[in-house]
Amino acid sequence: MGIARIGASIIQIPMLWNLHPASRKYNKFVQNFNLAIQRVIARYEEVSGFEEKISKDNENDDSNDSMLALMSNAGFSREVIADEIKTMLGAGYETTSTTVELLLVMLALYPKYQNECRQEVDAIFNNDIKCPSGKLTLETLSEMKHLERCLFETMRMYPAGPIVGRKLETALKINNELEIPVGTTVGIPIVLLHRCPKNFPEPDQFQPDRFLAENCIKRHPIRTCRFQRVLGVALVPEIRFLFLAMKLAIMEAKTLVAYILREFEVETSDKIEDVTHIPSITVQLERGYYFRFKKRMDVPAGV
Ligand code: HEM
Repeated sequence: MGIARIGASIIQIPMLWNLHPASRKYNKFVQNFNLAIQRVIARYEEVSGFEEKISKDNENDDSNDSMLALMSNAGFSREVIADEIKTMLGAGYETTSTTVELLLVMLALYPKYQNECRQEVDAIFNNDIKCPSGKLTLETLSEMKHLERCLFETMRMYPAGPIVGRKLETALKINNELEIPVGTTVGIPIVLLHRCPKNFPEPDQFQPDRFLAENCIKRHPIRTCRFQRVLGVALVPEIRFLFLAMKLAIMEAKTLVAYILREFEVETSDKIEDVTHIPSITVQLERGYYFRFKKRMDVPAGV
Protein backbone atom coordinates (compact mmCIF):
# COMPACT_ATOMS: atom_id res chain seq x y z
CA MET A 1 0.00 0.00 0.00
CA GLY A 2 2.75 2.40 1.03
CA ILE A 3 4.69 1.40 -2.10
CA ALA A 4 1.64 2.06 -4.29
CA ARG A 5 1.47 5.54 -2.82
CA ILE A 6 5.16 6.25 -3.42
CA GLY A 7 4.78 5.12 -7.05
CA ALA A 8 1.80 7.32 -7.90
CA SER A 9 2.49 11.01 -7.49
CA ILE A 10 -1.16 12.08 -7.57
CA ILE A 11 -2.01 10.21 -4.36
CA GLN A 12 0.87 11.86 -2.53
CA ILE A 13 -1.60 14.72 -1.94
CA PRO A 14 -3.18 13.84 1.43
CA MET A 15 -6.72 14.83 0.36
CA LEU A 16 -6.61 12.57 -2.71
CA TRP A 17 -4.91 9.77 -0.80
CA ASN A 18 -7.76 9.80 1.73
CA LEU A 19 -10.22 9.18 -1.11
CA HIS A 20 -8.18 6.27 -2.48
CA PRO A 21 -9.55 2.80 -1.49
CA ALA A 22 -6.02 1.64 -0.44
CA SER A 23 -5.86 4.40 2.19
CA ARG A 24 -8.55 2.73 4.30
CA LYS A 25 -6.64 -0.55 4.26
CA TYR A 26 -3.44 1.31 5.05
CA ASN A 27 -4.95 3.27 7.95
CA LYS A 28 -6.43 0.08 9.39
CA PHE A 29 -3.03 -1.58 9.18
CA VAL A 30 -1.32 1.34 10.95
CA GLN A 31 -4.03 1.33 13.64
CA ASN A 32 -3.62 -2.42 14.27
CA PHE A 33 0.17 -2.09 14.28
CA ASN A 34 0.00 0.70 16.89
CA LEU A 35 -2.47 -1.31 18.98
CA ALA A 36 -0.23 -4.39 18.93
CA ILE A 37 2.73 -2.31 20.11
CA GLN A 38 0.72 -0.69 22.89
CA ARG A 39 -0.30 -4.19 24.00
CA VAL A 40 3.34 -5.36 24.09
CA ILE A 41 4.30 -2.36 26.25
CA ALA A 42 1.30 -2.84 28.57
CA ARG A 43 2.11 -6.53 28.92
CA TYR A 44 5.73 -5.69 29.70
CA GLU A 45 4.69 -3.17 32.36
CA GLU A 46 2.38 -5.74 33.91
CA VAL A 47 4.99 -8.52 33.92
CA SER A 48 7.95 -6.36 34.98
CA GLY A 49 5.96 -4.83 37.86
CA PHE A 50 5.08 -8.32 38.97
CA GLU A 51 8.62 -9.66 38.56
CA GLU A 52 10.11 -6.69 40.36
CA LYS A 53 8.08 -7.64 43.41
CA ILE A 54 8.94 -11.33 43.34
CA SER A 55 12.60 -11.18 42.28
CA LYS A 56 14.05 -8.11 43.95
CA ASP A 57 17.02 -10.15 45.19
CA ASN A 58 17.71 -11.83 41.87
CA GLU A 59 20.27 -9.57 40.20
CA ASN A 60 20.78 -11.93 37.29
CA ASP A 61 17.17 -11.64 36.22
CA ASP A 62 17.38 -11.58 32.41
CA SER A 63 14.18 -9.52 32.10
CA ASN A 64 16.19 -6.47 33.17
CA ASP A 65 18.46 -6.90 30.13
CA SER A 66 15.67 -6.51 27.61
CA MET A 67 15.56 -3.39 25.44
CA LEU A 68 12.17 -2.52 26.90
CA ALA A 69 13.67 -2.65 30.39
CA LEU A 70 16.65 -0.52 29.34
CA MET A 71 14.46 2.09 27.70
CA SER A 72 11.99 2.20 30.53
CA ASN A 73 14.77 2.42 33.15
CA ALA A 74 16.33 5.27 31.17
CA GLY A 75 13.05 7.19 31.60
CA PHE A 76 11.83 7.03 27.98
CA SER A 77 8.16 7.92 27.66
CA ARG A 78 5.65 5.37 26.39
CA GLU A 79 5.41 7.24 23.06
CA VAL A 80 9.19 7.23 22.54
CA ILE A 81 9.38 3.53 23.41
CA ALA A 82 6.56 2.83 20.95
CA ASP A 83 8.42 4.78 18.23
CA GLU A 84 11.62 2.83 18.87
CA ILE A 85 9.76 -0.48 18.64
CA LYS A 86 8.20 0.62 15.35
CA THR A 87 11.67 1.42 13.97
CA MET A 88 13.06 -1.91 15.11
CA LEU A 89 10.17 -3.81 13.57
CA GLY A 90 9.73 -1.71 10.45
CA ALA A 91 13.37 -1.23 9.46
CA GLY A 92 15.17 -3.97 11.35
CA TYR A 93 13.05 -7.10 11.35
CA GLU A 94 12.53 -8.20 7.77
CA THR A 95 15.93 -6.97 6.56
CA THR A 96 17.80 -8.94 9.21
CA SER A 97 15.66 -12.08 9.07
CA THR A 98 15.89 -12.28 5.26
CA THR A 99 19.66 -11.81 5.47
CA VAL A 100 19.99 -14.60 8.05
CA GLU A 101 17.87 -16.91 5.92
CA LEU A 102 19.99 -16.19 2.84
CA LEU A 103 23.21 -16.68 4.81
CA LEU A 104 21.95 -20.10 5.94
CA VAL A 105 21.11 -20.97 2.33
CA MET A 106 24.62 -20.01 1.20
CA LEU A 107 26.21 -22.05 4.00
CA ALA A 108 24.00 -25.00 3.10
CA LEU A 109 24.95 -24.69 -0.58
CA TYR A 110 28.67 -24.32 0.21
CA PRO A 111 29.53 -26.94 2.88
CA LYS A 112 33.22 -25.95 2.69
CA TYR A 113 32.38 -22.52 4.09
CA GLN A 114 29.86 -23.99 6.53
CA ASN A 115 32.59 -26.26 7.95
CA GLU A 116 35.06 -23.39 8.24
CA CYS A 117 32.48 -21.33 10.11
CA ARG A 118 31.60 -24.28 12.35
CA GLN A 119 35.24 -24.89 13.28
CA GLU A 120 35.55 -21.24 14.21
CA VAL A 121 32.33 -21.32 16.24
CA ASP A 122 33.33 -24.59 17.98
CA ALA A 123 36.73 -23.17 18.94
CA ILE A 124 34.94 -20.35 20.74
CA PHE A 125 32.27 -22.48 22.43
CA ASN A 126 34.90 -25.04 23.52
CA ASN A 127 36.99 -22.37 25.20
CA ASP A 128 35.88 -22.20 28.86
CA ILE A 129 37.55 -18.86 29.39
CA LYS A 130 36.03 -17.14 26.37
CA CYS A 131 32.65 -18.78 26.65
CA PRO A 132 32.25 -19.89 30.29
CA SER A 133 28.52 -20.64 30.38
CA GLY A 134 27.99 -21.37 26.70
CA LYS A 135 26.88 -17.78 26.14
CA LEU A 136 28.43 -15.68 23.40
CA THR A 137 29.69 -12.20 24.19
CA LEU A 138 30.39 -9.15 22.04
CA GLU A 139 34.07 -10.01 22.14
CA THR A 140 33.59 -13.61 21.02
CA LEU A 141 31.25 -12.50 18.22
CA SER A 142 33.93 -10.17 16.88
CA GLU A 143 36.30 -13.15 16.65
CA MET A 144 34.04 -14.95 14.16
CA LYS A 145 35.82 -13.68 11.08
CA HIS A 146 34.91 -16.54 8.73
CA LEU A 147 31.26 -16.20 9.61
CA GLU A 148 31.47 -12.44 9.17
CA ARG A 149 32.98 -12.78 5.68
CA CYS A 150 30.23 -15.22 4.68
CA LEU A 151 27.64 -12.77 6.03
CA PHE A 152 29.14 -9.84 4.10
CA GLU A 153 29.36 -11.87 0.90
CA THR A 154 25.71 -12.86 1.31
CA MET A 155 24.81 -9.20 1.80
CA ARG A 156 26.82 -8.28 -1.28
CA MET A 157 24.96 -10.77 -3.43
CA TYR A 158 21.56 -10.27 -1.86
CA PRO A 159 21.35 -6.85 -0.20
CA ALA A 160 18.08 -6.87 1.75
CA GLY A 161 17.74 -3.15 1.02
CA PRO A 162 18.42 -3.29 -2.74
CA ILE A 163 17.94 0.38 -3.57
CA VAL A 164 18.20 3.73 -1.80
CA GLY A 165 16.81 7.08 -2.84
CA ARG A 166 18.38 10.52 -2.63
CA LYS A 167 17.13 13.98 -3.57
CA LEU A 168 19.84 15.82 -5.49
CA GLU A 169 21.10 19.02 -3.87
CA THR A 170 23.44 19.74 -6.77
CA ALA A 171 22.98 18.85 -10.42
CA LEU A 172 24.41 15.48 -11.38
CA LYS A 173 26.38 15.15 -14.63
CA ILE A 174 26.68 11.71 -16.16
CA ASN A 175 29.50 11.23 -18.71
CA ASN A 176 29.16 14.90 -19.75
CA GLU A 177 26.14 13.83 -21.77
CA LEU A 178 23.30 14.01 -19.34
CA GLU A 179 22.56 16.42 -16.53
CA ILE A 180 20.04 15.51 -13.87
CA PRO A 181 18.65 18.71 -12.32
CA VAL A 182 18.66 19.70 -8.65
CA GLY A 183 15.65 18.44 -6.72
CA THR A 184 15.33 15.18 -8.70
CA THR A 185 14.97 12.06 -6.59
CA VAL A 186 17.38 9.43 -7.84
CA GLY A 187 17.40 5.73 -7.03
CA ILE A 188 20.80 4.17 -6.33
CA PRO A 189 20.64 0.47 -7.16
CA ILE A 190 22.90 -1.09 -4.56
CA VAL A 191 22.19 -4.52 -5.96
CA LEU A 192 23.65 -3.51 -9.36
CA LEU A 193 26.75 -1.93 -7.80
CA HIS A 194 27.32 -5.18 -5.95
CA ARG A 195 26.92 -7.29 -9.11
CA CYS A 196 29.07 -5.11 -11.35
CA PRO A 197 32.18 -7.10 -12.45
CA LYS A 198 34.28 -3.92 -12.36
CA ASN A 199 33.64 -3.74 -8.63
CA PHE A 200 33.54 -7.46 -7.91
CA PRO A 201 35.09 -9.81 -10.50
CA GLU A 202 32.96 -12.95 -11.06
CA PRO A 203 30.11 -11.24 -9.21
CA ASP A 204 27.76 -14.24 -9.33
CA GLN A 205 30.21 -16.43 -7.42
CA PHE A 206 29.97 -16.74 -3.64
CA GLN A 207 33.53 -15.80 -2.59
CA PRO A 208 33.67 -14.70 1.07
CA ASP A 209 37.43 -14.04 0.74
CA ARG A 210 36.58 -10.83 -1.06
CA PHE A 211 36.12 -9.51 2.47
CA LEU A 212 39.58 -10.45 3.73
CA ALA A 213 41.21 -7.25 5.02
CA GLU A 214 43.88 -7.35 2.27
CA ASN A 215 41.20 -7.53 -0.43
CA CYS A 216 38.96 -4.87 1.13
CA ILE A 217 41.67 -2.22 1.06
CA LYS A 218 42.04 -2.66 -2.70
CA ARG A 219 38.41 -1.61 -3.16
CA HIS A 220 36.84 1.79 -2.80
CA PRO A 221 34.36 1.40 0.07
CA ILE A 222 31.48 2.88 -1.92
CA ARG A 223 31.56 -0.28 -3.99
CA THR A 224 30.08 -2.23 -1.13
CA CYS A 225 27.03 -0.40 0.09
CA ARG A 226 26.06 -3.12 2.51
CA PHE A 227 24.48 -0.51 4.72
CA GLN A 228 25.34 2.63 2.84
CA ARG A 229 28.49 2.83 4.93
CA VAL A 230 29.60 5.58 2.65
CA LEU A 231 26.36 6.78 1.17
CA GLY A 232 24.79 7.07 4.59
CA VAL A 233 27.57 9.18 5.95
CA ALA A 234 28.70 11.18 2.98
CA LEU A 235 25.28 12.08 1.69
CA VAL A 236 23.07 11.97 4.76
CA PRO A 237 25.23 12.68 7.80
CA GLU A 238 22.24 12.74 10.11
CA ILE A 239 21.65 9.00 9.62
CA ARG A 240 24.31 8.06 12.16
CA PHE A 241 21.75 5.63 13.50
CA LEU A 242 22.53 3.35 10.58
CA PHE A 243 25.90 2.60 12.09
CA LEU A 244 24.25 1.36 15.24
CA ALA A 245 21.71 -0.53 13.14
CA MET A 246 24.53 -2.08 11.12
CA LYS A 247 26.29 -3.28 14.24
CA LEU A 248 23.06 -4.61 15.70
CA ALA A 249 22.10 -6.50 12.53
CA ILE A 250 25.59 -8.04 12.22
CA MET A 251 25.52 -9.10 15.87
CA GLU A 252 22.04 -10.57 15.53
CA ALA A 253 22.91 -12.51 12.39
CA LYS A 254 26.18 -13.86 13.75
CA THR A 255 24.64 -14.84 17.09
CA LEU A 256 21.75 -16.70 15.55
CA VAL A 257 23.84 -18.53 12.94
CA ALA A 258 26.61 -19.38 15.45
CA TYR A 259 24.11 -21.10 17.78
CA ILE A 260 22.58 -22.95 14.82
CA LEU A 261 25.99 -24.15 13.54
CA ARG A 262 26.93 -25.25 17.05
CA GLU A 263 23.91 -27.55 17.24
CA PHE A 264 23.13 -28.50 13.65
CA GLU A 265 24.42 -29.28 10.21
CA VAL A 266 22.41 -27.26 7.73
CA GLU A 267 21.30 -28.62 4.37
CA THR A 268 18.82 -27.45 1.77
CA SER A 269 17.09 -29.14 -1.13
CA ASP A 270 16.60 -25.73 -2.78
CA LYS A 271 18.85 -23.87 -5.13
CA ILE A 272 19.06 -20.14 -4.59
CA GLU A 273 17.01 -19.48 -7.76
CA ASP A 274 14.17 -21.79 -6.61
CA VAL A 275 12.76 -18.93 -4.55
CA THR A 276 11.88 -15.63 -6.18
CA HIS A 277 13.35 -12.60 -4.44
CA ILE A 278 10.70 -9.93 -4.74
CA PRO A 279 12.34 -6.51 -4.66
CA SER A 280 10.30 -3.99 -2.74
CA ILE A 281 11.69 -1.38 -0.33
CA THR A 282 13.32 -4.44 1.18
CA VAL A 283 13.80 -7.82 -0.49
CA GLN A 284 10.99 -10.24 0.26
CA LEU A 285 11.15 -13.96 -0.40
CA GLU A 286 8.21 -15.43 -2.29
CA ARG A 287 8.41 -18.41 0.08
CA GLY A 288 10.81 -19.65 2.74
CA TYR A 289 13.69 -21.91 1.67
CA TYR A 290 13.47 -25.57 2.73
CA PHE A 291 16.13 -26.48 5.27
CA ARG A 292 17.15 -29.76 6.87
CA PHE A 293 18.74 -29.29 10.29
CA LYS A 294 20.70 -32.42 11.24
CA LYS A 295 21.43 -32.54 14.98
CA ARG A 296 25.17 -32.82 15.61
CA MET A 297 26.24 -35.75 17.75
CA ASP A 298 29.76 -34.46 18.41
CA VAL A 299 28.81 -31.51 20.65
CA PRO A 300 29.29 -31.93 24.41
CA ALA A 301 25.84 -32.07 26.08
CA GLY A 302 24.61 -29.01 27.91
CA VAL A 303 26.76 -26.54 25.98
C1 HEM B 1 20.69 -6.90 7.27
C2 HEM B 1 20.02 -5.97 7.88
C3 HEM B 1 19.72 -4.59 7.33
C4 HEM B 1 19.85 -4.09 6.06
C5 HEM B 1 20.33 -4.81 4.80
C6 HEM B 1 19.42 -2.70 6.11
C7 HEM B 1 19.39 -1.84 5.01
C8 HEM B 1 18.95 -0.54 5.06
C9 HEM B 1 18.91 0.34 3.93
C10 HEM B 1 19.34 -0.01 2.49
C11 HEM B 1 18.44 1.54 4.34
C12 HEM B 1 18.24 2.82 3.51
C13 HEM B 1 19.42 3.69 3.85
C14 HEM B 1 19.58 4.95 3.06
O1 HEM B 1 18.63 5.43 2.44
O2 HEM B 1 20.70 5.44 3.09
C15 HEM B 1 18.17 1.40 5.76
C16 HEM B 1 17.66 2.41 6.54
C17 HEM B 1 17.40 2.29 7.88
N1 HEM B 1 17.59 1.18 8.66
FE1 HEM B 1 18.34 -0.58 8.04
N2 HEM B 1 19.04 -2.39 7.39
C18 HEM B 1 19.22 -3.51 8.17
C19 HEM B 1 18.97 -3.63 9.53
C20 HEM B 1 18.49 -2.62 10.32
C21 HEM B 1 18.25 -2.73 11.75
C22 HEM B 1 18.51 -3.99 12.59
C23 HEM B 1 17.73 -1.53 12.16
C24 HEM B 1 17.29 -1.08 13.51
C25 HEM B 1 17.08 -1.80 14.52
C26 HEM B 1 17.67 -0.67 10.99
C27 HEM B 1 17.22 0.63 11.02
C28 HEM B 1 17.20 1.48 9.94
C29 HEM B 1 16.74 2.86 9.98
C30 HEM B 1 16.20 3.59 11.21
C31 HEM B 1 16.86 3.37 8.70
C32 HEM B 1 16.52 4.78 8.21
C33 HEM B 1 15.10 4.76 7.75
C34 HEM B 1 14.66 6.09 7.20
O3 HEM B 1 15.48 6.82 6.65
O4 HEM B 1 13.47 6.33 7.28
N3 HEM B 1 18.14 -1.36 9.91
N4 HEM B 1 18.50 0.13 6.16
